[in-house]
Amino acid sequence: MTDYIAIEDLSDDMAKDELTRLANLLDEANQAYHGDDSPIMTDAEFDFLKKRNLEIELKFPQYKKPNSPTEKIGSLPSETFSKIKHSKKMFSLANAFENSDLYDFDEQVRRFLNFKGSEPLEYTVEPKIDGLSLSLRYEKGQFVFAATRGDGTTGECVTANALAISDIPKNLPTQTEILEVRGEVYMEHKDFEILNKNQGALGKKIFANPRNAAAGSLRQLDATITAERPLKFLAYAWGELSEPLDTNQFGAIQKLKNLGFKTNSHTKLCKNIDEAISQYDEFSKIRSELGYDIDGIVYKVDSLDLQSRLGYRSTTPRWAIAHKFPAEYSWTKLLAIDVQVGRTGALSPVARLNPVTVGGVVVSNATLHNQDYIAGRDNSGGEIRSGKDIRINDWVEVYRAGDVIPKISDVDLTRRLKGSTAYCFPLVCPECGSKVVRDEGDAVIRCVAGINCPAQAIEKLKHFVSRKAFDIDGLGGKQIELFFADEALSIKEPADIFTLKLRDQNNLTKLIDRHGFGRKSASNLFDAIEKKRSIEFSRFLFSLGIRHVGENVSKLLARHFLSWSRFIPSISLAQNRESQEYFDLVAIDGIGTTVVNSLLSAFEIGKERDSIEKLAGHLDILDEILPDREDNLLSGKTLVFTGTLEQMSRSEAKSLAENLGAKVSGSVSAKTDLVVAGPGAGSKIRRAEELGVKTLDEAEWLSLIGK
Ligand code: IVH
Repeated sequence: MTDYIAIEDLSDDMAKDELTRLANLLDEANQAYHGDDSPIMTDAEFDFLKKRNLEIELKFPQYKKPNSPTEKIGSLPSETFSKIKHSKKMFSLANAFENSDLYDFDEQVRRFLNFKGSEPLEYTVEPKIDGLSLSLRYEKGQFVFAATRGDGTTGECVTANALAISDIPKNLPTQTEILEVRGEVYMEHKDFEILNKNQGALGKKIFANPRNAAAGSLRQLDATITAERPLKFLAYAWGELSEPLDTNQFGAIQKLKNLGFKTNSHTKLCKNIDEAISQYDEFSKIRSELGYDIDGIVYKVDSLDLQSRLGYRSTTPRWAIAHKFPAEYSWTKLLAIDVQVGRTGALSPVARLNPVTVGGVVVSNATLHNQDYIAGRDNSGGEIRSGKDIRINDWVEVYRAGDVIPKISDVDLTRRLKGSTAYCFPLVCPECGSKVVRDEGDAVIRCVAGINCPAQAIEKLKHFVSRKAFDIDGLGGKQIELFFADEALSIKEPADIFTLKLRDQNNLTKLIDRHGFGRKSASNLFDAIEKKRSIEFSRFLFSLGIRHVGENVSKLLARHFLSWSRFIPSISLAQNRESQEYFDLVAIDGIGTTVVNSLLSAFEIGKERDSIEKLAGHLDILDEILPDREDNLLSGKTLVFTGTLEQMSRSEAKSLAENLGAKVSGSVSAKTDLVVAGPGAGSKIRRAEELGVKTLDEAEWLSLIGK
């Protein structure tokens, strides 16, 4: 940092000039940070300059500027896009790398649909464009808004930016009530090169690849910047529709084309999975001539009726899959191995690399997974990299497959330094010095200190405020680190977030002018925190960051218990592994003993449970609302399927029941409402009879759900 004249040495004139200079500098820094996605100084420098500005203002109040930086937003992104909840969730795609993955996919689809023989199953195949997805809503043919994918449930409103993209029609030749069109925003290679050349000439940020350039250009708070960027849009899917587009994927895309959208002319309709797979080689050949980046191809079941029967898993459709192009490789030197401690205490080794370009992206870190991976062994003790271990100063081959985190595929033993020694994994937690353990059958070494380990506490907090958890505007990972370290206004556990405002008011050390917060951004933060005092039950469970309790499991738990007030006493009773509550928990379909044990250990009497209960005391945890509660026969009911169903697969039956609001359990208990039994049903049907639980055969089940 440059040397600055001490404030006590400043004359009147110097102070006046310095305030003007600092105002300009801070303004520029703000613009670079918010407007150009390309900071010109570090946060520490920014904070230092802001503090200096304030101190000069305090000593020379007569020279404080009317638009003083003190009154403006800090280094935190307080100006953000407004949020839009998608009326239909935006899903991502499961990945396949080998032909065998595609045959498995075809097989799973057939099994789900209960296809007995070789029923025809057609697929569309199209390029997977490496850009970012966007949802466009039209009502009566008029463009209403555009939203990014966000976390799939809620995206950012980028309507003004979408208006600036010429491929996006503003009116459609249709009066259809609701039509949401989804597709990819991307940048062509030639436009990307010109953009980077211009950016370079202006001393502005150079983008690493067309995808980053497209994302940076679309997510501009100033849409006039988006307008200057050569963005394209290709439509390949849809969200809410007031009427169907067609009966088939291929036809539906043709309809979108007729409405004025750009669609991918390379899309092919294939008779079966073999024909679809054969397109992979064709696309690999033309990949370099397309003029834009693709990272694979997408296979979609063509029939829209079958797509709707297949439905979705928590984040991906069952009716589509992405076949990724192979990884790209480069050699570089491994400079160091750092071991990070994650939210659940896992010690994760990371390779620090001499920066190298792998498939157009500069890579300086790669995951090393765990101790065995470094030693050249897989989870079951078999060899990886022909058993070569990884050492500091080794030459290593790095690869990336699509958007996957870089990994190390090989070590050049001929370049290994003489006298080098095998890497020694830490014997205690590198963050807190506590004991580390490796559970049987687990490749991961963990720090046992839980939230007493500062690294785990910080990571838990970061998870707590993350997008799919509490998602508090203005409180991201960076701010969590600042507050965690701040002794005067600290956040050490989630409950502290909800007392921040009170502590700020009672405390002489105000948030304003700390951590880059100004008057406006501090009050925005307090408002954003207040908004999250009421929270959905499943989101609350997910945000606790309990190992194995991810989004999906949280949803299942919330659907089972329906409310926090029912959950908490049940969990206490379930600590007894002989209790009915324990058996009920393990019986929830999709939840096994691993999840249950991890959940129970978080709720054992102790510091973690205290911390959760303290947090809950600040919140209004909303009861889980089951889908279609009023209109459906199955809402809130617990079902068990047993025996072989003949008309539909067990998976389809389960998914249908869940869509109708039911919970599906694996075992019959007094809480079961209905048992659907196909031929071959045994002990479960007897148990149902003993308990007086209603049972249905397959025909009765089908008629119940109106099939
Ligand atoms: S279909 C419900 N088709 O890939 C399925 N996605 O890895 C919706 N993408 O989030 C996706 N090209 O951003 C689909 N032809 C294509 C695509 C495509 C690129 C992206 C999309 C999605 C991501 C999933």
